Amino acid sequence: MKILVLNGPNLGRLGTREPEVYGRTTHADLVALCEQTGKELGVDVEVRQTNHEGEMIGWLHEAADQKTAVVLNAGAWTHYSIAIADACAMLTAPLVEVHISNVHQREEFRHHSYISAVASGVIVGLGVQGYPLAIRWLAEQ
Ligand code: DQA
Repeated sequence: MKILVLNGPNLGRLGTREPEVYGRTTHADLVALCEQTGKELGVDVEVRQTNHEGEMIGWLHEAADQKTAVVLNAGAWTHYSIAIADACAMLTAPLVEVHISNVHQREEFRHHSYISAVASGVIVGLGVQGYPLAIRWLAEQ
């Protein structure tokens, strides 16, 4: 089994980006955490990050074609990209939407997600620990 963990814009700067909001874990640490979780579960976990919407859409098409389960943190695209939501709607394997911060405690514009309607479930506000939780759930499906 394979799980793709896809991170959108600005998430490559984890660790230094607003640490009071997103914590001090770097993206490299997050990759190691996800890969370690996959190893424990005997699942192939691949983590990718992009600041380019078209690249993310291409990865979602790949996941749709290969019927791969996805953990997605679309960052700010979550709140306005119908194109990302449309690509998510093509997935046939489960999709878990993850947000490091509790978006519902933050600005109003972060309260709405275009992705939630097409996700199997959503993990919000549990920090980077949301990722291993999402991977564990997907591995059990
Ligand atoms: C985020 C929340 C988004 O509102 C924000 O634009 C991000 C990160 C999170 O993980 O908490 O880039 O998705």
